[in-house]
Amino acid sequence: MDQAINGATARLLDGKTTAQAIKNDIAAAVALMQERGQRPPHLVAMLVGNHGASETYVASKVKSCGEVGFQSTLLRYPPAISEAELLGAVQAVNEDPGVDGLLVQLPLPDHISVEKVTERISPSKDVDGFHPVNIGRMAKGLPAFISATPFGILQLLERYQLPTAGKHCVVVGRSQIVGLPMSLLMGRNAYPGNCTVTLCHSKTPDIAELTRQADILIAALGKPGFITADMVKPGAVVIDVGLTRVDDATRKSGFALKGDVRFDEVAPRASYITPVPGGVGLMTIAALLQNTLLSAQKKVYG
Ligand code: GUN
Repeated sequence: MDQAINGATARLLDGKTTAQAIKNDIAAAVALMQERGQRPPHLVAMLVGNHGASETYVASKVKSCGEVGFQSTLLRYPPAISEAELLGAVQAVNEDPGVDGLLVQLPLPDHISVEKVTERISPSKDVDGFHPVNIGRMAKGLPAFISATPFGILQLLERYQLPTAGKHCVVVGRSQIVGLPMSLLMGRNAYPGNCTVTLCHSKTPDIAELTRQADILIAALGKPGFITADMVKPGAVVIDVGLTRVDDATRKSGFALKGDVRFDEVAPRASYITPVPGGVGLMTIAALLQNTLLSAQKKVYG
């Protein structure tokens, strides 16, 4: 699909179609497992409290499990659950041989340590790829669960056969979930990868100066509309990870989802660009399903 704006053309990196193709492959693999008498992959999602965006994300993950034939279980906990209780619940799922993947939806209430919870999840069921063991193994190029958003972005680059070797990749945002692993992956000796990587963050003095040098620009800072046309090199590949709720009274939901990139002005300069919604978000869920399938097939931790 092409996005023609003001006579210029950027090709859309279409997360919707690509994620659907991945989901079709997963559904076929599940059907094969069941023909062989194996149980389908099983993902458990834990949700603490009722944070609006988390409710939406988890509902979407559960729905996607159903679409590919996975079993899923949503475990809900009140916001006042103690850290010890939550850690105990994680441990119980770790020990359940009928579960392949476990994720605890973030953010968590302030009284619960994200690090403690993340480290309690068994690395072999950590399909979010947040455990230090998985991040360390990924950094070394060893088999590991790769965090779903970076994994989804890699697959988008791969499915569109975009060259990456020798390119300058600039990642804006150093979150543990996206920016940090993304920067490591794009610098690995692999495809997609072999980039020269610059990781920008809140203390980087002149971000625009760096983004203008990017052949591949990955915006993952969670600030709607931060990347403007003058920050983008003509012909760059632009990946927008932002997915922020912004008030919008014209919508029934009362909000719209906004990316970190000003799509309308950046698309005419870019060679390829992801839309929001319909880009990276859908790829993230497809990648989570892939990790869960890999776990059930014992292909990461055999
Ligand atoms: N919160 C925002 N993104 C994510 C994600 O990918 N996984 C989990 N567990 N929580 C999130």
